[in-house]
Amino acid sequence: MVMAIVGLQWGDEGKGKVVDLLSEGVDMVVRYQGGSNAGHTVVVGERKFVFHQLPSAALYPKDIVISGGVVLDLEGLFDEISELGSDLKASIHLDYRAHLIMPYHKLLDRLEEEKKGTLKVGTTQKGIGPAYVDKVARIGIRVSDLMDKDNFADKLSAVLDMKNAILSQVYKVKPFSFDEIYLKYLSYRDRISDIVDDATYLLLDAYNDGKEILFEGAQGALLDMSMGTYPYVTSSHPVVGGVGVEAGFPVNLIDRRIGVFKAYTTRVGEGPFPTEVEGSIEEFMRERGGEFGATTGRPRRCGWLDIPALKYAIMINGANELVVTKLDVLSGLSEIKVCVGYRVGGKVSDRFSTESAFLRGVVPEYVVLPGWSEDISRVRDFSRLPDAAKRYLGFLEDRLGVRISMVGVGPEREGILRL
Ligand code: IMP
Repeated sequence: MVMAIVGLQWGDEGKGKVVDLLSEGVDMVVRYQGGSNAGHTVVVGERKFVFHQLPSAALYPKDIVISGGVVLDLEGLFDEISELGSDLKASIHLDYRAHLIMPYHKLLDRLEEEKKGTLKVGTTQKGIGPAYVDKVARIGIRVSDLMDKDNFADKLSAVLDMKNAILSQVYKVKPFSFDEIYLKYLSYRDRISDIVDDATYLLLDAYNDGKEILFEGAQGALLDMSMGTYPYVTSSHPVVGGVGVEAGFPVNLIDRRIGVFKAYTTRVGEGPFPTEVEGSIEEFMRERGGEFGATTGRPRRCGWLDIPALKYAIMINGANELVVTKLDVLSGLSEIKVCVGYRVGGKVSDRFSTESAFLRGVVPEYVVLPGWSEDISRVRDFSRLPDAAKRYLGFLEDRLGVRISMVGVGPEREGILRL
């Protein structure tokens, strides 16, 4: 059995908890794109874990794979490993193709955002975009480059010349010292040399041996670099198709393509958001849902569910199973709105477009459903949900045309109901 768990909105759908739950019997969990821009929260008892680069399933004993499509912040990785217990390291497999986030990527992420004016994306400033830019420009430094000391010195020196010219001449900031970066990364190299692997063969061999594999998407489909709301996107492919290009694993072998979405919508950073709400409803969702970035602490923008956007995300992922999270956040609202179409020039359509001008011009057509007042966060059986909550889920399943298999009603592991 192979599963891919992906977000169907703009990230922060609560995938971490779903991955944590579904990974219990799985042999291998894989992070296949993005980097430390992700923040996946898992609550176990009194403890809260936030995963940035390791898959959220790292709490269980199993093989942990970081594929070649990831851009890796090594320092952050070491911190995460030491927080979870250094024994964990023995189960990590790091693909030799993964690109390294270098100090200049982080600095450039911030400087470029400051200079972009109206093109500002509101990135997490973790260096993700600049690292992927170097990958595409074929000047990225990969794990395999670091493994070969001389090669690393040559590459770093050539790339640093280019970066330092930009930093000092365009941005007028202090250039980086070669020696400092070189020595620091050599010490990192010693700490990862035993986990470097070929993740693609590893995954295919595991599959052929009948092992269960789970691919964990970070961010969400609407942040996909090609298929998301460009330019307000991340620089990788957080969709099911990303498993093919970012981990080299054939997508036709993925049985369960699980799309996760929150019972409402959030977005962090810039970009269009047709169902965004302001005022007391936004405050209600943000406060009750704890809608502040797990990586940056920024307040998330909040709004109602958007069926055209979800249907689009389901379509581009080929999702065959859905998980709704944070349903409990909506408890206490007398009515709940769902956008079922966009009104444009007198016509209503349920087709989504990633164009900012289109999304900013549409008027959402809402269906208003009754809310419920009961606290559902202790409910552990679907049949015990209030009728209005069941009706809301039934409405969504009907409109989306894909089975909802689980519903999240609370932050703990037990707070997820199987349908
Ligand atoms: P970057 O990935 O840091 O380059 O940021 C690009 C866009 O993606 C910004 O709008 C970020 O807020 C958003 N983003 C990146 N990672 C996440 C995430 O894990 N959750 C939600 N939004 C994210």
